[in-house]
Amino acid sequence: MDNIERNQLFETAKSFIRDAGTAIREKIDQPRTIETKSNADDLVTEMDQETERFFAEKIRSHFPQHRLFGEEGFGDEIEDLDGTVWIVDPIDGTMNFVHQKRNFAISVGIYKDGVGEIGLIYDVMEDVLYSALHGEGAYKDGKKLDISSYSKPIEQSILCLNTTWMLPENRLVQHTGIHDLVKKIRSTRSYGSAALEFAYVAEGIIDGYLSLSLMPWDVAAGVIIVREAGGIVTTADGEEIDMLNRTTIMASHSDIHNEVVEEFVELK
Ligand code: IPD
Ligand code: CA
Ligand code: CA
Repeated sequence: MDNIERNQLFETAKSFIRDAGTAIREKIDQPRTIETKSNADDLVTEMDQETERFFAEKIRSHFPQHRLFGEEGFGDEIEDLDGTVWIVDPIDGTMNFVHQKRNFAISVGIYKDGVGEIGLIYDVMEDVLYSALHGEGAYKDGKKLDISSYSKPIEQSILCLNTTWMLPENRLVQHTGIHDLVKKIRSTRSYGSAALEFAYVAEGIIDGYLSLSLMPWDVAAGVIIVREAGGIVTTADGEEIDMLNRTTIMASHSDIHNEVVEEFVELK
């Protein structure tokens, strides 16, 4: 993909994501059809499906040679990342979408032969777009993001964690120093949208995001945006992310990344 082609793809993808977000905003107060997937708390609505179908149609008509790896099953069967693959979460934070009508995002990562080229996270209700082009930095709307300017020691850091860490039967809760870590840091937050949590790390309003179980569509855009903002993203035990399978994640600025990852390395 040459630079002109990549910039055109970037602009087109931004227009798709904004149009998809506008459609969601316009229907935000309509009655919802809510179904469950893997368990009673794993929600999906007609808007998740409509939004992914929108991307599938747009990608097929504008870029017939590209493939779509989407959460809701309107894309392709993806077993490798050869060629250009759009990794799309049509609504990340569906529970927030249903319960709060805010704090959810559309997440689009575009990969070329496995390399993350374009990352887009659209905070739909705030109408804020986080974006990154590989090698050219990350932006919140027009503002360039630079994580190094938010650098601080772990004692002053805020880490995003979810409720998994409150379950005593969780092997990682028992065998890592997570409790000591939580005591050491300034505080924790939990926003309920992996994509927004990555975006907030890139923006510097939280210092790190640690999660134990995310799918490629949860992380595909966030990985690119945090890295382009100058941050580090690995699995919780410091390895490269596998963009085809479920993964753990530690995304943060460089000051705290090692200290958190060390807690997990011994569990490998
Ligand atoms: C979920 C959100 C949530 C994370 C879950 C994801 P969904 O995505 O990102 O923050 O903790 O693991 O599944 O289901 O709302 O697209
Ligand atoms: Ca998701
Ligand atoms: Ca989703």
